[in-house]
Amino acid sequence: MNEELHTPQELNSMPRIGDIAPDFEAITTKGPIKMSEFAKDKWTVMFSHPADFTPVCTTEMSGFAERKEEFDALNTELLGLSIDSIHAHLGWVQNVREATGVYFDFPIIADIDMKVSKLYGMLQPNESETAAVRAVFFIDPSKKIRLIMYYPLNVGRNMNEILRALEALQVSDKHKVALPLDWKKGDKVICPAPKSLNDLNTRLADHSVEKVTWYLAKKNI
Ligand code: BEZ
Repeated sequence: MNEELHTPQELNSMPRIGDIAPDFEAITTKGPIKMSEFAKDKWTVMFSHPADFTPVCTTEMSGFAERKEEFDALNTELLGLSIDSIHAHLGWVQNVREATGVYFDFPIIADIDMKVSKLYGMLQPNESETAAVRAVFFIDPSKKIRLIMYYPLNVGRNMNEILRALEALQVSDKHKVALPLDWKKGDKVICPAPKSLNDLNTRLADHSVEKVTWYLAKKNI
């Protein structure tokens, strides 16, 4: 048992869903950025990885690069981060390009002073004191954090799930609906639950929706 564990009280300043993404300035592989001015009118998927030149991270970064067009189609900018220098980032980008032909064509923050990692709770000291965990922040065009994922150092993320969650957030916003277990594009969505008896009676009489019970009904969009 590790007696040096950091307590939840000590670590409780992490951003949460619904918060405005904390602002910062940083150096990236595409030049300097300021979070509050990044990706104007677009979504941002900001993700951390533990270290350049490591195997799982290479598969993940390549996954983001190979599916960048799908993020573009969802009006979304990618923004990577690790606690490495800009020189390490440039070397890794070039090394992967030479080895596999995959080019990381999105900014990667060089967070060598851990400023951004600490601000976003990506440095989780009971997992690692020096490397960021595998975090993903989904940030909407108003800069509100809408979904957060955290994975440990030794388990890679699922790119299908990252894209599915991003699309789900956008569909939920656009149609003001909730989405059920395992929802994917083309599936039915959940009709908002009735808030009055009038709503309930209207729901019961509506044959266009699939009713499981009076409070759970699904429809096509
Ligand atoms: C990896 O990306 O392979 C890795 C990085 C840090 C710790 C464990 C695995």
